Amino acid sequence: MWSSVLPLLVTISPALLFLPDHTNTQDEHWQDYKYGRQQDSEVPDKKSFCSWKCLLFTLQWPGAFCQSLDEPSLCKIPQNVNNWTIHGLWPLRVRDCCKCWPMFKSDVQDLEAELQEHWPSLLQSHPSFLFWREEWIKHGVCAACVEGMNSPLRYFQLNLKLRAQFDIHKLLEVADISPSCERPYKLSEVHQALAPLLGEKLQIQCVTDDQEREVWFQVKIPLSHNLTVGCDHHVDADPPHPPHGHPCHPQTPFYYFPIDHQQPQTPCG
Ligand SMILES: *[C@@H]1O[C@H](CO)[C@@H](O)[C@H](O)[C@H]1NC(C)=O
Ligand SMILES: *[C@@H]1O[C@H](CO)[C@@H](O)[C@H](O)[C@H]1NC(C)=O
Repeated sequence: MWSSVLPLLVTISPALLFLPDHTNTQDEHWQDYKYGRQQDSEVPDKKSFCSWKCLLFTLQWPGAFCQSLDEPSLCKIPQNVNNWTIHGLWPLRVRDCCKCWPMFKSDVQDLEAELQEHWPSLLQSHPSFLFWREEWIKHGVCAACVEGMNSPLRYFQLNLKLRAQFDIHKLLEVADISPSCERPYKLSEVHQALAPLLGEKLQIQCVTDDQEREVWFQVKIPLSHNLTVGCDHHVDADPPHPPHGHPCHPQTPFYYFPIDHQQPQTPCG
C-alpha cells in the first residue's frame, strides 16, 4: 500500500514550491478571521471586514415556503420539519468579505441532526449542506470577525442558539395565534405578540399566493454587533435575499398556513 502512496507524495511536493504569491495573502486573511485581528492595518482592506454594525437573523415558516417560490413545485418539507426554521444570519452593508474560508461537512458534523431539523433546505434539488455552505460563504465569513462566530462550527451553533432564544412558536401560542386556513391575522396582533422578545424593529414578511392571498412566510430580527435585539439600519440597504417577500400590509390580514408535508404547495387548497 505504501509503495503506491509514496510516489504520489513525491510527485506532488515539488509543485508546492511554485504556489503563486497570492496564497500568502489569502492565508493572512484567513488568519485574520480566525484570530479576529481586524484592527491591524498591515493589510489595507482589513478594516472593511468588520465594518458592519447590524445583523439580520431571519426565520422562515415552512408552511409558506413553497408559496414564496416562483416555481412552487420545487419545494419540499421534510417530515422532521414542523416549526419555524432558520433562513440565515446576515451582517448588513458588508463590503469585501473574504471568500477564502471554505466549509466542509466535518465542520458541522456534530450539529448535523439539529441543523437538519432547524435549518433544512426546503428545495428539492438542494441538499441542506449546500444551503449551509452557501450561507457560510456569503454571510458567515463576514460575521466571523466577531468572537463567538469565528468558525463555521461557532457560527452555526450561534444560529441554533438564537433560534431557541427567539421562540416564535411559543410567543404565538401565548397570543392564541396558530396556523389556520380559515382565520387570517392582523399585522398589529402578530407584531404585538412578537415585539416584546424580538424588538420593535422586527420585520414581518408576506408573499402573495396564486389565489391572491397574503401569506406570512418570514420574520427578520435586527441584531446589533453584540447580538442584542434591535439595530438601526436602513431597510433599503438590505441585501436582496430570494425568496422575495414584502412587508405584510398593515391593512390586509394575512394567513398563517399550516404545514402540510404531503402537499406543501397547497396546504389550504
Ligand atoms: C416548536 O418549537 C418549540 C420550541 O422552540 C416547541 O415548544 C414546540 O413544541 C415546537 N412545535 C412543534 C409543532 O414541534
Ligand atoms: C450592544 O450594542 C448596542 C449598540 O451598539 C449598545 O447600545 C448596547 O449597550 C450593547 N449592549 C451590550 C450588553 O454590550
